[in-house]
Amino acid sequence: AGTGKFFVGGNWKCNGTKESITKLVSDLNTVKLESDVDVVVAPPFVYLDFVKSSLSERIEISAQNTWVGKGGAFTGEISVEQLKDIGCSWVILGHSERRHIIGEDDQFIGKKAAYALNEGLGVIACIGELLEEREAGKTFDVCFQQLKAYADAVPGWEKMVIAYEPVWAIGTGKVATPEQAQEVHMACRDWLKKNVSAEVASKTRIIYGGSVNGGNCAELAKQEDIDGFLVGGASLKGPEFVTIINSVT
Ligand code: G3P
Repeated sequence: AGTGKFFVGGNWKCNGTKESITKLVSDLNTVKLESDVDVVVAPPFVYLDFVKSSLSERIEISAQNTWVGKGGAFTGEISVEQLKDIGCSWVILGHSERRHIIGEDDQFIGKKAAYALNEGLGVIACIGELLEEREAGKTFDVCFQQLKAYADAVPGWEKMVIAYEPVWAIGTGKVATPEQAQEVHMACRDWLKKNVSAEVASKTRIIYGGSVNGGNCAELAKQEDIDGFLVGGASLKGPEFVTIINSVT
């Protein structure tokens, strides 16, 4: 860990029931969390309000997606204004599942990030390469192109957190090695330095996601350019998520 306050997000994805989420919230409410960590959880939309009203204020709430502009006649969408109305302070954008399963592209994601930031939400901006892109030696190209789409769109970086999530590591149990993750984090920081500013490069937190668990988090957290985690599966288990939060070094 190096830059800024350690940041750990739990992305619950499309998981949970009122019953399981009640249990998870109660687990998170009864444990001690290291003070020097920003902790954010991202429940499915339908449970956001419930989680916000039952979870300790120590933990912030994030949406997993948002509409690209002001609300209105957009069936099935949720607006930034509605998220703010229920006390949600973050949104995850550009997740690989939305890029590769739903088909969202760089420009659309950039627009969403810009709108959310302009309205005062924090953005957990995901990037990451597919296995075939890594094998073809294109990891940096892909990450830099995705970073550029954010950089071209966003009004500022104060409320941006970059989440590097190699797609081959997501939900596969195949975590990136600390060296693999560090290499990409460092390259992204360098990209920010050359293409945005030295200040943004040094202040923006770059967190890692992809099969992070209670057993591998400590080694990853030691890396100089890993400033936290975005956790999927392991964030659904209260005690394990707490181990990851408390892995801050
Ligand atoms: O956004 C978090 C994520 O994609 C990682 O998922 O289940 O591999 O921790 P998981």
